[in-house]
Amino acid sequence: MSGGGDGTALAGFLDFEPPTEDFREAVLQGLAERQKRIPAKFFYDDRGSRLFDRICEQPEYYPTRAELEILENERERLRALLPAEASVIEFGAGAAQKIRLLVEALVTPRCYVPIDISRQFLLHSAEGFARDHPELPTAAVCADFTLAVDLDPVVPEGPRVGFFPGSTIGNLTPDEAVGFLKSAARTLGEGGFLVVGVDLRKDPARLEAAYDDAAGVTAAFNLNLLRRINRELGGGFELDGFAHKALYDRDEGRIEMHLESLREQRVRIAGETFAFARGETIHTENSYKYELDGFQALAKRGGFRPALALTDAESLFSVHVLAVA
Ligand code: AVI
Repeated sequence: MSGGGDGTALAGFLDFEPPTEDFREAVLQGLAERQKRIPAKFFYDDRGSRLFDRICEQPEYYPTRAELEILENERERLRALLPAEASVIEFGAGAAQKIRLLVEALVTPRCYVPIDISRQFLLHSAEGFARDHPELPTAAVCADFTLAVDLDPVVPEGPRVGFFPGSTIGNLTPDEAVGFLKSAARTLGEGGFLVVGVDLRKDPARLEAAYDDAAGVTAAFNLNLLRRINRELGGGFELDGFAHKALYDRDEGRIEMHLESLREQRVRIAGETFAFARGETIHTENSYKYELDGFQALAKRGGFRPALALTDAESLFSVHVLAVA
């Protein structure tokens, strides 16, 4: 851990040096499978992160606005339930506007500690937050937050409130989500709470529009994966040979994003050749949607007691408060 004397605005930095995922290996392996796939975590290079920020501003993509509405309108109920003097732990980094609302809901927050696997992004966003909130000690932890993290070196004793906004939990399968929740319960410890944003099931047309906006930003975000492969792995994808697809699977309760090959084609990547039939797809993302009680059942499997479920006026999105059981 480095202290605040290193020229940064941070009160501490704890680096577990998590292994970084090998993009090349994941792509070559995923494209060799019968249903070709590329894990969604690879969307977020610089351009992908900027495109994601623009997705959040699209009129069809309601989750960001609906979650902010809940956090703004429900401060009093959050304040009544959460421990007054808590350390705020964000699983992931960069949701500055949402974190500010959560911090404001607490009576006397002790510190803010984001955990993220991407060191550069983590430090950039934590330092930005620290500069904007000099009154609140901010430390950063570089780690894989899907595993339990020992925060004792940077977090004072006392209750911890975890925050996992944006329905990022929906990008995990339900079993992976339970695994994450179990780790989060250990990271937060006895007396801890988790505030988690979860997108709700609804009319498939509304869901599919949210993942296929008219301005084409989500399409560009999806296709950016192929650009990234071309740039970083010397891939030979022709971008006009693929189209963005977003479909809601009612049985699974999830939006699936795919890249569909518009013609029969062969693509060379890192010395290997991959054949695509016309209409064949690369599965790039799942985004699970839940009913309120379905998510609460999942939370119980993950070692939490559901304490409160909040929704926006249109019941599009939910924010759950879970207590470590
Ligand atoms: C980050 N995650 C919660 C977004 C979602 O809604 O699943 C990612 C996204 N993909 C397309 N649009 C937004």
